[in-house]
Amino acid sequence: MMRGRTELEDAYRKLQDVQGQLMQSEKMASIGQLAAGVAHEINNPIGYVHSNLGSLQKYLDDLFAVVTAYEQVESLLGQHPEALATLRLVKQKADLEFLKEDVAALMNESREGITRVKKIVQDLKDFSHVGSDEEWVFADLHQGMESTLSIVWNELKYKAEISKDYGDIPNIECLPAQLNQVFMNLLVNAAHAIEERGVITIRSGTLDGGVWVEVADTGKGIAAENLNRIFDPFFTTKPIGKGTGLGLSVSYSIVQKHHGSINVASEAGRGTTFRVWLPIRQPDGKDGNGTPLPHADTV
Ligand SMILES: Nc1ncnc2c1ncn2[C@@H]1O[C@H](COP(=O)(O)OP(=O)(O)O)[C@@H](O)[C@H]1O
Ligand SMILES: [Mg+2]
Repeated sequence: MMRGRTELEDAYRKLQDVQGQLMQSEKMASIGQLAAGVAHEINNPIGYVHSNLGSLQKYLDDLFAVVTAYEQVESLLGQHPEALATLRLVKQKADLEFLKEDVAALMNESREGITRVKKIVQDLKDFSHVGSDEEWVFADLHQGMESTLSIVWNELKYKAEISKDYGDIPNIECLPAQLNQVFMNLLVNAAHAIEERGVITIRSGTLDGGVWVEVADTGKGIAAENLNRIFDPFFTTKPIGKGTGLGLSVSYSIVQKHHGSINVASEAGRGTTFRVWLPIRQPDGKDGNGTPLPHADTV
């Protein structure tokens, strides 16, 4: 009797956990959509501010050239001393020399700022792939990795130095936004695994008619007894609020949909390496539910 009740309570608590985690992942998906929408909206004004800054720079250069030309004939005002005095006063008040320098600095800074915003928006767009949602396209995985890195940079920068060893890989037929999701999960997990400071190494290359991408960290590693559970939905060793246990299971199913494979090698205390292998072309009828290619086993 007592046992039955605890089991029921246990099951109920688990169900509540699962519901919370599902809500969390639903929330993340809507945030992604929101970000994509905002990025799209911001893109247009950024475009014209950026281009206006270019024109303004040119106009200011022209204006200053005119002012300099006037300055050169200033001495000709000798026979109109009061006009010359007024002119000098106006110049002094405007602090023309300082103004020239500062305008240049301000313009540079503004352009730099807007270029940065442009890049963030581009990264957000690349990351969420607005417009090309769910379409199989030939895409460059390095580009996906780069935009994902910019998106998660805030989570990584205090934990790890990023080292890259990119191979020469062809574009592959894929769902780029979903693969970005995989990269994001691997990168964030790597950062979480590093306690103080470490290195995350990203490598890529070609193998067996496909490409592989590796994310390796110098973190705490995965205990041997957990190695075959990490891809299970809701398996997490992280405290509530930090981990949902969904990252790797979602990644696993995305990779499977691509007829690829995901492998892990880990050594407690030394670090972990995840390797994703993906075929260059999808077999016909890429529904993703077909039988995986021979390469798709998991270690
Ligand atoms: N790079 C890694 N280093 C150490 N442990 C890892 C790493 N990646 C995943 N794990 C382990 O696998 C578990 C499941 O990962 P994941 O599915 O992403 O869920 P979450 O990160 O929310 O816990 C983690 O809780 C952690 O124990
Ligand atoms: Mg995770």
